[in-house]
Amino acid sequence: MERLDKILANSGVGTRKEVKALIRRGSVVVNGAIVKNPGQHVDPYKDEILIDGIRVDYREYVYLMHNKKMGYITATEDTREMTVMDLLPDEYRHFKVFPVGRLDKDSEGLLLVTNDGDLAHRLLSPGKKVEKKYYVRVAGGLSESDVERFKEGIKLDDGYVTLPANLEILSQGDVSEAYVSIVEGKFHQVKRMFLAVGKRVRYLKRVAMGPLVLDENLKPGHFRELTDKELLELKSCVYREEKGT
Ligand code: URA
Repeated sequence: MERLDKILANSGVGTRKEVKALIRRGSVVVNGAIVKNPGQHVDPYKDEILIDGIRVDYREYVYLMHNKKMGYITATEDTREMTVMDLLPDEYRHFKVFPVGRLDKDSEGLLLVTNDGDLAHRLLSPGKKVEKKYYVRVAGGLSESDVERFKEGIKLDDGYVTLPANLEILSQGDVSEAYVSIVEGKFHQVKRMFLAVGKRVRYLKRVAMGPLVLDENLKPGHFRELTDKELLELKSCVYREEKGT
């Protein structure tokens, strides 16, 4: 149970002040009766709330897939740079969402954007070892010995040895293409792993995070809500142990 004005403000109906005025005006009907007390406690999941006859679709959390566009930084705000949040459609602003994890300014691809702090925390927790898969184009050729070295773990410039990573070579040439999957999220990790084997990453795009796969129809800079199936799979990958499934 929650205060009616809070529920409506959290639903994006307006500011707390605007919502109070709306309620006092008699525009809000709960279970068929006009409610004029903004402090009335209501169950947003069970009670039917109408504003001028239109049903309020209440939800606490929102889960969005974003295809990050090159040139934007992964942050909620910045005084100089454009952030991924600058592209968030207005209808989601009141949810106070944030990106889960980071992609470099010149990287593209999958970012989960949500206000579910617990899920975000679990997805980023090193202990959960959620796999992140990237498509990369690197300068120069790649070989089976690179695949082996990635499998063993790569010693980075600061001496840290990464956990085993899976390198799948897709094409060879002056510029080679590959998928690389890692279960950590060190600063610039993929670029630094390739640098350690003498290759420079020219292009990097995250294509998956755990079971969540970037929708190739989602244009860079765009957002869409996760489907029920995507959300269920994502949650079951990090809440698995506790639920014993
Ligand atoms: N690793 C990198 O080097 N850059 C990214 O944006 C993501 C992973």
